[in-house]
Amino acid sequence: MWNIEEIKKDVRSNLSDYRYNHSIRVMEEAKRLAEHYKADIEKCMLSSLTHDMCKEFTDKENEDFIKKYNLPKELLNAENKNMIHGFTASILVKEKYNFTEDMVLAIRYHTTGYPNMDILAKIVYLADKIEKGKDYPCIEEERLLAYQNIDKAIILCLKNQIKHLKEKNKLINNMAYDTLKSLEENTIN
Ligand SMILES: [Fe+2]
Repeated sequence: MWNIEEIKKDVRSNLSDYRYNHSIRVMEEAKRLAEHYKADIEKCMLSSLTHDMCKEFTDKENEDFIKKYNLPKELLNAENKNMIHGFTASILVKEKYNFTEDMVLAIRYHTTGYPNMDILAKIVYLADKIEKGKDYPCIEEERLLAYQNIDKAIILCLKNQIKHLKEKNKLINNMAYDTLKSLEENTIN
C-alpha cells in the first residue's frame, strides 16, 4: 500500500512545479473542507493531491493511454479537452494506488462534477476552484459560500465557469450542465 508521502513524491515526479504546488494547495483546501463538513479527510486529501496528475500528458501520451486502456476515443474530442486529464488520472490512481470507487469518480469528474455527487466529489471539485493560489473575479464569493453551503458554492462555481467559457468561445462539456441541473433540483433555497 502506498502512503501519502510516497504518493506525494510520485505526483511530484510527474508534474511541473507550478502544477505540483497547485495540487498541494488543493489538498490543503480539501482537508479544511473535509474537516468542516465531517467528510473522510484521508480520501479528500488523496483524491485532491492526485486529481491533476495526468494534466501534463502530451496529445500523444493521451492517445497512447486511451489505446492501452481501451477507453472511448471520444475522450480525444474537442469538447472533452478539459476533462480528459480527470479521466486518465482516475484510471491511473485505481491501478497504481488502488484508490476506492468513490475516489475514482471524484477525480474523473473533477472539472465538471457529475449529477448526484457525493461529499467527496463536491469537496474535490470545490477545492480545485478555490485553493489559495487562485485569483479570478467572484472567487471571494465562492470561497465564502464554500464553507456556508457547499451545494450553492458549486452552483455558483459552475455558473461562473460556464460564463467564462462562453465569453472565451470555448466548448462546454454537457456534464457541467447536468451537474448544475442536478444540484439546482436538489438544493432548497
Ligand atoms: Fe486542478
